[in-house]
Amino acid sequence: MKTVVLFESYFGNTRQIAGAIGNSLTQNNEVRVLNVTEVSWNEISDAEILIVGSATRAFRPCEATKQFLKIVK
Ligand SMILES: Cc1cc2nc3c(=O)[nH]c(=O)nc-3n(C[C@H](O)[C@H](O)[C@H](O)COP(=O)(O)O)c2cc1C
Repeated sequence: MKTVVLFESYFGNTRQIAGAIGNSLTQNNEVRVLNVTEVSWNEISDAEILIVGSATRAFRPCEATKQFLKIVK
């Protein structure tokens, strides 16, 4: 299945976890691991599985992730 793992990371931890998740899903999946700050919905519109991970800021995802997912503050 076409799988996208999105991440937002400042210090690299979330990026590392996203990479590990992506590597674990490569069997029977076409996997892309992408930075949420560098993608548009159009680029991932063919995704059948979407996994999103963000570093935490004040008990919430980071700003770009919230904007991308249109989470209301
Ligand atoms: C300004 C700021 C706010 C944070 N708020 C939280 C928080 O509310 N809860 C939490 O568990 N960690 C919080 N953290 C810790 C980060 O989420 C944590 O270091 C995370 O692993 C960073 O991920 P990254 O390496 O992908 O950037 C905060 C860190 C910073 C700098």
